[in-house]
Amino acid sequence: MKFYITTPIYYLNDAPHIGHSYTTTAADIMARWKRLKGYDVAFVTGTDEHGAKIVAAAKEKGKSPQEFVDEMSEKFKDAWKLLNISNTGFIRTTDASHIKNSQDIIQILFDKGLIYKKKYTALYCVGCEKFILERDLDENGCCHDHKTKPQLQSEENYFFKLSQFQEILLERILDEKHKEHIEIQPMERRNEIIGKLKLGLDDISVSRATLDWGIPVPFDKNHTIYVWVDALISYITAIGYPAKNNPLSDFWPADIHLMAKDILWFHCVIWPAILIGAGLAAPKKVYSHGFFTIDGDKMSKTIGNVISPQALVDKFGVDAARYLTVSLIPFGPDGDISWSGLNLKYNTDLANNLGNLTSRLNKMFQKYFEGNIPSVKHNGVLFEKAEQVLNEDFAKEMDAFQIHKASDALQKALTLINQQIENDAPWTLAKTDMEKLKECLFSYIQSFDLILLYLFPYMPVISQKIWDINGAQGNLEEIAKDYFANPKKYKDGFSKAGAKLQAAEVLFPRIQ
Ligand code: MSP
Repeated sequence: MKFYITTPIYYLNDAPHIGHSYTTTAADIMARWKRLKGYDVAFVTGTDEHGAKIVAAAKEKGKSPQEFVDEMSEKFKDAWKLLNISNTGFIRTTDASHIKNSQDIIQILFDKGLIYKKKYTALYCVGCEKFILERDLDENGCCHDHKTKPQLQSEENYFFKLSQFQEILLERILDEKHKEHIEIQPMERRNEIIGKLKLGLDDISVSRATLDWGIPVPFDKNHTIYVWVDALISYITAIGYPAKNNPLSDFWPADIHLMAKDILWFHCVIWPAILIGAGLAAPKKVYSHGFFTIDGDKMSKTIGNVISPQALVDKFGVDAARYLTVSLIPFGPDGDISWSGLNLKYNTDLANNLGNLTSRLNKMFQKYFEGNIPSVKHNGVLFEKAEQVLNEDFAKEMDAFQIHKASDALQKALTLINQQIENDAPWTLAKTDMEKLKECLFSYIQSFDLILLYLFPYMPVISQKIWDINGAQGNLEEIAKDYFANPKKYKDGFSKAGAKLQAAEVLFPRIQ
């Protein structure tokens, strides 16, 4: 079973920030979840290195574009290393293989008569790296997203016959039974795309005559390929296009292209059209999460509200930063992130629920059983209840990419154990019924271990740490894979009788 997930390849004019890490962490959680479920996963991220925006940013820093992208690309690699992102590939659009493959695809489209030359005059927004219509500007004649005035460009460009693809795209997007169905999520965004598609499609310019910093058009070296076309093609070049016997690797078509709504049109319309035009399969699913503000404002260097992955890690640690970023706001609609919101979520979910359960349980085992797992028959009632929440709520939400709701399910499962402890009152049982106490503590720890298997995609290091503290043996990820392949094998749980719990450190100190 193959699974291919991508993030956008990010522009290098900005250093990595929480907007980028939001998408990348979400994709990582999905990739890790699919691996646990037995999939062979390709997970690609990367950097978008051509275009006018990069030239301008390099110039500002007094660097050549190549020097600039080499430096900036490392920052993204470092950020993903810092956040323990498990990407299997990192594509740079200045990679030689990518340059060659982009030229091949453009050549195929040209040979098929899908590209022609025409003089064009229009407004171009460098921030968006796209032509923009006057009616889409604000009252000051500026781009809504970038608040800058677009420049009038007039040049002879090569055009791609996008207008020919309206029907085929509509058919594949609308018909869920179509064998090459293109699914767009969430529904509201899908409907927006369909509405816009129904209005008809204009051909799009796919080359630039005045921009050197790009991939040369193979049939006319005076032009470079439009940065967005080159960028989209990275999704196939990153997984080894062209493969030997089949032009695309086994991982294509992509299972999920993940991004925010800002670039959905490129992924749902332009990209599938290029692929179909070149005789290749279109992606199976395009998933858009929302765009978020920070404390109500657009993230910007001028406002000074940009949150970097490093700042998050400095404050919360790596695993908590991963968890908090994706579980604070609903995954899909637009939202707002703030330090106070992050702190509150940290205290509620991590310090009070997860961290507290770890130390509370540990203390009871130390106090009543000298830190050993007692030998007792597993009363599986609590375990089964937790299994139900995890298999039903968590797995269902995760598979629908409702990643914040899946984290709620984790909290719900943890709360089940905390509530059971309150109901059983082990501190009383310790005076009245040692056998019952053994049975209760044994069932808490097995249920807790079970939750850790599901927590792993969010918190790969902390979940293993708690696993070790709980006296469960071995590599959590490997055991989780085995559990998902054969859950019945583990009905007695994971921490074995006779194993010793480790002393629990404070994993999530409360933030005042
Ligand atoms: N280079 C193009 C993508 C080419 S993909 C073939 C690009 N790059 S970008 O650096 O601007 O990245 C945009 C993406 O970054 C968004 O789609 C989203 O995934 C992420 N985000 C950046 N800021 C964000 C928010 N404030 N909120 C949510 N996601 C954010 O577009």
